[in-house]
Amino acid sequence: MKFFIDTANLDQIKEAQALGILDGVTTNPSLMAKEGITGADNILNHYKAICNIVEGDVSAEVIATDFDGMIAQGEELAALNPQIVVKLPMIADGVKACKYFSDKGIKTNMTLVFSAGQALLAAKAGATYVSPFIGRLDDISTDGLNLISEIRLIYDNYGFETQILAASVRHTMHIIDCAKLRSDVMTGPLSAIKGLLKHPLTDNGLAKFLADYKKGN
Ligand code: G3P
Repeated sequence: MKFFIDTANLDQIKEAQALGILDGVTTNPSLMAKEGITGADNILNHYKAICNIVEGDVSAEVIATDFDGMIAQGEELAALNPQIVVKLPMIADGVKACKYFSDKGIKTNMTLVFSAGQALLAAKAGATYVSPFIGRLDDISTDGLNLISEIRLIYDNYGFETQILAASVRHTMHIIDCAKLRSDVMTGPLSAIKGLLKHPLTDNGLAKFLADYKKGN
């Protein structure tokens, strides 16, 4: 399973990259705003900065909600760097734009996906990635992980190559469950990724090894 970090914070991206386990980055307008990145030029420059830190795919989201606007913005984003994946909302014009970019060989990520039917449409449109938001489904008492299972089944039934990118991942158990369910990618916060490291027996065991070493030296 690929690990993407879901942030626009450059320090956190650098920290995840330094761990050696990072495969890419996802962002969205809310994450950009959280870092105080506003204005079209600043946002484009920020995407370039992210691409300079990581080697993998970097999802950059269009703001337009009409087909022509999505094409114009998506082409501008894709021209920034070959790592850029054009992120499109799961609405009718987003599906059309996804097909347009897929036909041109430009990578796409269909976002704000909350149902298996939406994921089926994304695959039909040739999306590189589909982003089911599991945490936001959990927020409304709906099983987000069940959506990952449904999409996995449907994609495997027909050999769709669209990669399932589990998004809105909030904690370590989401990551582990996504891996069990054969999600292709998960994107989550640095805290969830680093949370996978933690185990008290590791810390206690290491402390004991070091103490025993000191006794003998
Ligand atoms: O990857 C999608 C993500 O940014 C949304 O996460 O926590 O706002 O639901 P969240």
